[in-house]
Amino acid sequence: MKTLTCISLPSDPKSRSYLCSLFIGACLFCGVYFLASEFTVKDYKDRSSRWQISVFQNAHSNSIQNIQSSKCKNQCRPSGSEALPEGIVVKTSNLEVQPLWGATLNGEKSSLSKSLLAMAVGIKQKEIVNQIVEKFISSNFVVMLFHYDGVVDEWREFAWSDHAMHVTVVNQTKWWFAKRFLHPDIVAEYNYIFLWDEDLGVENFHPGRYISIVEDEGLEISQPALDPKKSRVHHQITARVRNSRVHRRTYKHRGSGRCDDQSTAPPCVGWVEMMAPVFSKAAWRCVWHMIQNELIHAWGVDMQLGYCAQGDRTKNVGVVDSEYVVHLALPTLGVLDENELHGEGHDHSSQREKLPKSVALV
Ligand SMILES: *[C@@H]1O[C@H](CO)[C@@H](O)[C@H](O)[C@H]1NC(C)=O
Repeated sequence: MKTLTCISLPSDPKSRSYLCSLFIGACLFCGVYFLASEFTVKDYKDRSSRWQISVFQNAHSNSIQNIQSSKCKNQCRPSGSEALPEGIVVKTSNLEVQPLWGATLNGEKSSLSKSLLAMAVGIKQKEIVNQIVEKFISSNFVVMLFHYDGVVDEWREFAWSDHAMHVTVVNQTKWWFAKRFLHPDIVAEYNYIFLWDEDLGVENFHPGRYISIVEDEGLEISQPALDPKKSRVHHQITARVRNSRVHRRTYKHRGSGRCDDQSTAPPCVGWVEMMAPVFSKAAWRCVWHMIQNELIHAWGVDMQLGYCAQGDRTKNVGVVDSEYVVHLALPTLGVLDENELHGEGHDHSSQREKLPKSVALV
């Protein structure tokens, strides 16, 4: 303060210091006022410009939509196909084989094969995979096997081997395969996609009956119940309920994480596990987009499936009790499953994978 010099002031030191402090006070007041007004104006400007932008954007997107929809009526083409004459553009495909000579199977066979089984398999599970595939092939499923151990030839002893599709890439999980080989446009013809693990006992499971149940119940995402006596059950909602056809909700009245009729979220309601999920065509189109490229075990993805339920997850997601499987919890791909065998791999919730940070739990 002493460094401030007050010019041409009275020589009387008392009135001089009085005037000086008055001046400093005024300066401070002005400063504070200036800063405050600056902020208010800025805030107001920001808000008004934001408002203007959003009004502009709304008007703009409305007009774009109008243009697009009128354009779409004439020629809504997949990108890259614009140069082709209308009528020869084929947007989707399927996994049907075609005869080398003679007439093609134009739609004839595909009217039989309406659903797809895709499994990641290793030769160590040969027998159990054989049992699963035999059931699905005899129910006219298309079968696609992802070989994570690189072994293909040893499956040739089975009569169905030539009728299945084999994809082999070493040490990749079914999510990696599914993202690369089950693009929704490629599997567009299949009403249901079964994306299963290989360690499932299917003695009490019939694929055809299962499909008629999920169709009838309107389940977009489902799984067969697990036989609780013979399976390793990680989540109560997946356990089979006796004398029931389908359940969508589980009850837990004790301990942490209670589940009752008011529960609206997993794991009480609207939830399936990732070992044997079954997706409708529409749900798969959604789930495919949710599978991140670097996904490995897909822990945590089960909690996000509600986004893909095509509506109310408490209605469209369920567990089928009357067609059920045994989860054998065999060591399949890598050491993690061995941990599971020793009872350490139960709760993967602390190891949620690779979903973008902005994804909120639903
Ligand atoms: C696959 O994983 C096994 C076990 O972790 C490893 O020994 C093997 O070298 C891996 N193979 C390839 C081709 O990465």
